Amino acid sequence: MEGGAYKPHVLVLPQDGQGHMNPMLQFSKRLASKGIKVTVATFVSATKTMKRASMITFYPIYDDVTEGGMHGPGGLKAFIEKFQTIVSKNLLDFIKTSKHQINCLVYDANLHWAIDIAIGLGIPGAAFFTQSCAAISGYHMLNEEMLLSDQSSADPELPPALGVPNVPNMGSESGRFPAILQHILGQLSDLEKADWVLFNSFDELEGEVVKELSKRYSVKTIGPTIPSMYLDKRLEDDIYYGFNLFKPDKDFCLNWLNTKEIRSVVYVSFGSVAVLNAEQMEELAWGLKQSNNSFLWVVRASEKEKLPTNFIEETSEKGLVITWCPQLEVLSHEAVGCFMTHCGWNSTLESVSLGVPMLAMPQFLDQFSDAKFVEEVWGVGLRPKVDTEKRIVTREEIQVCINAVLNDEKKEVIKKNAKKWKELAKEAVDKGGSSDKNIEEFVAWIVANC
Ligand code: UDX
Repeated sequence: MEGGAYKPHVLVLPQDGQGHMNPMLQFSKRLASKGIKVTVATFVSATKTMKRASMITFYPIYDDVTEGGMHGPGGLKAFIEKFQTIVSKNLLDFIKTSKHQINCLVYDANLHWAIDIAIGLGIPGAAFFTQSCAAISGYHMLNEEMLLSDQSSADPELPPALGVPNVPNMGSESGRFPAILQHILGQLSDLEKADWVLFNSFDELEGEVVKELSKRYSVKTIGPTIPSMYLDKRLEDDIYYGFNLFKPDKDFCLNWLNTKEIRSVVYVSFGSVAVLNAEQMEELAWGLKQSNNSFLWVVRASEKEKLPTNFIEETSEKGLVITWCPQLEVLSHEAVGCFMTHCGWNSTLESVSLGVPMLAMPQFLDQFSDAKFVEEVWGVGLRPKVDTEKRIVTREEIQVCINAVLNDEKKEVIKKNAKKWKELAKEAVDKGGSSDKNIEEFVAWIVANC
């Protein structure tokens, strides 16, 4: 790279979806800031919505406008197969014909088959996990057990931390062991072939699990991938640009937050995928109302009809319901006192890194493991209990937990822990911090190999 004449070129291949695009895009930006040329290969529709960024080039690798997305006939399973066929071909063509030689492929671990394409072309590959090390470690143990007991087709009991209620519809699949879990376990099958296994996490947060996984794979934590402007550093080169599944009404919700007192608002969001059943939605609504605190609730347009009649009107003094928000800005806002979350890994990590206490309401897959860590390991929140008969979290429980996190004496311990983890997250990505060092090491390795 001497004299700036040649830049190593990294091709980044995220899976579609808010929870995958966000961290891989932010990681791409970090690589670019360290002198790497980065091309992000992604969906046509995504390349259109993202703000142009001089640091990164976008390459449309899958035309979802023409081919359709995951909600087409045959469900997710048919889509995954079609996606793999088309993207494999396009990936091969792109790498072979790229004028600027590709020196490394960073692929979403869910697209594990991409490593064979890289190996076939003599290019090193790095798997990128958008879930926690703990969740992947849990899947790893489950996989080993299944291989040993040959239970792959026997609908085995899942460990509670990896329970899968409310898994998004997979077409014809059902049962406790649906195809989505097969798909997720699939990402472990080719992991040994990857030169690096990257996690959007940081060593201090998941130390023991990182150590365990490192015995088997070349694990490096590189997170949190949150832009540093949100971690209070306001670096001059840190221009935020990102992917947004829906258009957020930024000014409207930030202006509303500006009118609220410090640490008084409950921010509620269940991410981009989770679907609450109507009963749970209703309990949540009345729990928020009864708690008598201000709340900002993201209810995606597709979920809105489940809100109780007149709820928005009846709660307009205390509450604001919106369809999507700029989450990092909301979590950074001083009026936000806690985050009621489904514990998707991005939301969990964002909340930890911005020091916001959580109310953990996991819905499926890795979210259960994240919720366990929130309450039991990091001590940065509470997990409202599910009523075993009704199989939902009741309004009374929601009310009690909100008040415990915002107003009880418990809040002091949680606040102290949240502050500690916020500082550690900042340190990890700061110059010389654990994640920064890992990224430096990764970049040096790419440079040395090109
Ligand atoms: C999915 C899975 O659900 C999750 O379990 C897995 O760990 C990652 O993929 P998702 O459900 O969307 O992700 O949740 P999450 O991982 O929390 O990602 C959501 C992202 O959307 C976050 O980065 C969050 O900042 C952003 N978001 C969410 C917004 O920008 N605005 C919103 O209103 C809500």
